[in-house]
Amino acid sequence: MADAQNAAAAPRVTRREDYREPDWLVPEIALDFELDPAATRVRAALKVTRNGGHDRPLVLMGDGLEPLAVRVDGKDAAWTMEGPDLVIALPGAAHRIETEVVIAPERNTQLQGLYASGGILCTQCESEGFRRITFFPDRPDVLTKYRVRMAAEKARYPVLLANGDPVAQGDLADGRHWAEWHDPFPKPSYLFALVAGDLVANRGSFTTMSGREVQLGIWVREPDLAKTDHALHALKLSMAWDEKVYGREYDLDVFNIVAVDDFNFGAMENKGLNVFNSRYILADPDTATDWDYDAVAAVVAHEYFHNWSGNRVTCRDWFQLSLKEGFTVFRDQSFSADQGSAAVKRIEDVRGLRASQFQEDAGPLAHPVRPDSYIEISNFYTATIYNKGAEVIRMMATILGPEKFRAATDIYFDRFDGTAATCEDFVRCMEEAGGVDLAQFRLWYSQAGTPRVSATLAQDGGKARLTLKQTVPPTPGQPEKAPMVLPLKLKLFGRVTGRALCDEQLVLLNRPEQELVFGNLTEPPVLSINRGFSAPVVVETDRTPDQLAFLSAHDDDPFARYEAMQQLMLDTLTAAVRGAPFDHGPVIEAVRNTLADTRLDRAFVADAVLLPSDSFIGDQMDIVDPEAIFRAREALRRELATALAGQWRDAYEANRANRFEYSPAAKGARRIKNVALGYIAASGAADAPALAFRQFEGADNMTDRQAALGTLVNGRSDERAAALAAFYDRYRGNALVLDKWFQTQALSTRDDTAEAVEKLAAHPDFTLANPNRARSVIGAFGVNQRAFHHPSGRGYRFVADQLLALDRINPQTAAKLLPPLGRWRRFDAERAARMRAELERIVATPGLSKDTFEQASKSLD
Ligand code: PHE
Ligand code: ZN
Repeated sequence: MADAQNAAAAPRVTRREDYREPDWLVPEIALDFELDPAATRVRAALKVTRNGGHDRPLVLMGDGLEPLAVRVDGKDAAWTMEGPDLVIALPGAAHRIETEVVIAPERNTQLQGLYASGGILCTQCESEGFRRITFFPDRPDVLTKYRVRMAAEKARYPVLLANGDPVAQGDLADGRHWAEWHDPFPKPSYLFALVAGDLVANRGSFTTMSGREVQLGIWVREPDLAKTDHALHALKLSMAWDEKVYGREYDLDVFNIVAVDDFNFGAMENKGLNVFNSRYILADPDTATDWDYDAVAAVVAHEYFHNWSGNRVTCRDWFQLSLKEGFTVFRDQSFSADQGSAAVKRIEDVRGLRASQFQEDAGPLAHPVRPDSYIEISNFYTATIYNKGAEVIRMMATILGPEKFRAATDIYFDRFDGTAATCEDFVRCMEEAGGVDLAQFRLWYSQAGTPRVSATLAQDGGKARLTLKQTVPPTPGQPEKAPMVLPLKLKLFGRVTGRALCDEQLVLLNRPEQELVFGNLTEPPVLSINRGFSAPVVVETDRTPDQLAFLSAHDDDPFARYEAMQQLMLDTLTAAVRGAPFDHGPVIEAVRNTLADTRLDRAFVADAVLLPSDSFIGDQMDIVDPEAIFRAREALRRELATALAGQWRDAYEANRANRFEYSPAAKGARRIKNVALGYIAASGAADAPALAFRQFEGADNMTDRQAALGTLVNGRSDERAAALAAFYDRYRGNALVLDKWFQTQALSTRDDTAEAVEKLAAHPDFTLANPNRARSVIGAFGVNQRAFHHPSGRGYRFVADQLLALDRINPQTAAKLLPPLGRWRRFDAERAARMRAELERIVATPGLSKDTFEQASKSLD
């Protein structure tokens, strides 16, 4: 570890290779909650059984708990505390253990365990929150049947929910009432949940493929009820989709979702009782963008799909986290692709992967999809586990083909139902049903780093020789890498006729170097490679601007077409940043052609004509120069804006009339219109601010309103302040929309944003106590490359100050804000020194959480 002082107190490292089966199992638990925000009494009765022939005591994990009573088989018993854990020596093979603790949900600012959010009492137990509620073997391979009784003041908490099915309820003396729930499916403690609050439900029902009727409820506070139809609809679509595509049916009589405002992540798949960050439930046209609508549907689907990939089959230990998360992300991505344009969905997913996962894989926090060790598991809910994990599943699906992949998932679900499985178990099912050997493919689980492929195509008369080479860069703890299996879809197109010169091929590149020969060529070939982004790798080719422009107009794979355009833009921009000769001409022509192609989906066009982000351009450089990148990008943007001024106006006007409707066509129209608005503003046209302001005022939906606001916030017009003030006045009472007000400003491309965020953090509506609000300023600012890397270093200081303040309240969310500071190796010496100084200040802070300690110390190494 980086700091000698802290090294002595360095938190314990958990290692995958140390996995041991649990000493004791807990087939059943009965929980009894006397709910109260200040003092909730929790009584637990566990049936425990010895697992194997050992004489080790029962260790029940706790976190900040004090045992008020401990009984074994009905009698007071001897116990000791080992650190936070309760240890009880037991003579026999099976016992009944009773414990009692008191916890204070209203003082729980970490939002793990039982906590209060806007008057609602709710729980969050993944990964290790259950031990903050009661003493328990809090590990995912201990599966238990839960019976839950809770009592609370009826006026404040009229609704009492828990996992499973409701059993009974009743009134008590002095204004209290109670409810009992029973979950017949054994589950790990991280899936436990209860909620008590003044809630109302948007109710629906779903009849499963075997004809069982399931009662659905989306629970929110009364004023939010009108914003829950979209989520309920998405839930029904998800239930039908999992039956159709995976043959998986829901298994309880009720499925409830509760939305809360204070939540560390997006949502949580607790059995039969999902708890959501309200931003992924609430949607109406006035407050949610198209992006929000899509995200609501995707997260609802994701959590629902976990009922099989996560709950019915869970993870043996947290190193297997991607078993449920990677697979479930793959499933939700496939679901979303089926709801609209699969091509646009793929483009967005790849853009997200590159922005978050590729950066992670290239930095100090790089780790394999199945990590080998951790200090704090909360730090491993990463883009690598989720998004690269999903790519790994996708590659296996590609290698197997759809029928065999489905056969493999059938085997997986059937064989491991009711158990805690491993990534290895999953891969074996793929091998078995696919009739393939995935021995080398398994490196995707153990090797970190983004593989790089170089592809060169040499023509020789009627033949062409394709040379493919792969390397995997070193990552922390993994200096040497073995060659991996990279499934690359490729195809050749004729430069003269634009026709395909061969069928699409799936090449499994599994050696450092491989050659392919193509014959019978009647015209010069152009290479289309990694079509559909079949492998999550970086591909380097020697394709010329002319060839890339050609592919951007002629490739028959929409992703490859988008990719060709991106590569053309990137090549132009990186040349400009390096001071090499460059020509904007090919980019302008390619964008002109794409805009003019009326056969293309508008949403696709909008994605294709957007320049790569500042940070993605930075990722291509050895040393990132944020100012040079910003200037090069702005220059190309301005040229595109002026050279194609007429086309941007046309695109804007053609899609302007737009009464809100949530359909792929209407979304595409809004998308291209708002991209066009951005270009009109970039041209410096005198009427641009007025145009944006008119859109801002006249919009009947948040997509158009926020896009107009964003355009104005990047500029310096009088309309800017007017729009910000109007937006604030209109939405000051709506926390989720106010987050957008903060976020839009933190993302501003203006050169004074580093100063502006300091003011935002001092705004009366800013608070670190709400994770969404904290992320809307600090998280957004951290990915605003130019602003965060302000040469003065004030951006670094700001993030470090906020992070340290948040660490005292909510370490899990604080630690997630650290990665931008950890990227110091990628910047010039002066910036790197300033970034390191902030990391050192963080690591040296007394009382630092192990969450932030792990992230900061690994970033310094
Ligand atoms: N398991 C949740 C999901 O991805 C994420 C989560 C992790 C939520 C930890 C809360 C706490 O669906
Ligand atoms: Zn998940």
